[in-house]
Amino acid sequence: MECHLMLALPILQLLLYHISPCTAAPASSCKANIEYIKTSCSVTIYPKLCYTSLSIYAGKIKTNPKVLAYTALNVTLAATKATSVVINRCSRVHGLKPIETAAALDCVEEVSDALDELRMSIDELGHAVRGSRNFSFQISDIQTWVSAALTDEDTCMDGFDEHKLTGRMETVVRRKILKIAHLTSNALALVNNYASN
Ligand SMILES: *[C@@H]1O[C@H](CO)[C@@H](O)[C@H](O)[C@H]1NC(C)=O
Ligand SMILES: *[C@@H]1O[C@H](CO)[C@@H](O)[C@H](O)[C@H]1NC(C)=O
Repeated sequence: MECHLMLALPILQLLLYHISPCTAAPASSCKANIEYIKTSCSVTIYPKLCYTSLSIYAGKIKTNPKVLAYTALNVTLAATKATSVVINRCSRVHGLKPIETAAALDCVEEVSDALDELRMSIDELGHAVRGSRNFSFQISDIQTWVSAALTDEDTCMDGFDEHKLTGRMETVVRRKILKIAHLTSNALALVNNYASN
């Protein structure tokens, strides 16, 4: 088990993956909404992850770039919260070397900072109105915070690299962090896309 992680989450993701996103809406608009997400995701570095994480929200996103960016940030926040729980648990696994515990606790701190930055970004994006006096400042704040979250996630893994830590705990944490770093990178690309259109 992953630092004593329950298995519910991967199974849930597997189920979600197989639910057709086109159920509630008329077929034609649903196809257009799905196509919109696919096209928008092609500007991200991880388009496949982008699509699988967002297509279930196609009915809510429709073809709105702001709702798309908002949803991407919200999905990233939820994944980061879950990762934070796992890393907390991993940092308390028995039998870790002191240097491993220290590196894991650094990660707990960095992921906690990333959570704050993502929350601020979501809040600010919720208030952003294109064409308002404040818009470019708000977008710039959001870009800064999401970039900072990405840096925090990288810093967590740098801590492991620096001390050449490659145990089982590190493998679990690294995999979780990579996933949220990819989601964060995608969300940033979608924020940039919203800002520039
Ligand atoms: C954001 O995500 C949470 C689940 O993590 C969900 O309950 C909430 O409805 C979402 N909000 C929006 C506006 O998508
Ligand atoms: C403009 O944005 C700042 C934060 O960036 C906020 O404090 C202020 O209330 C905003 N003003 C308006 C008119 O929205």
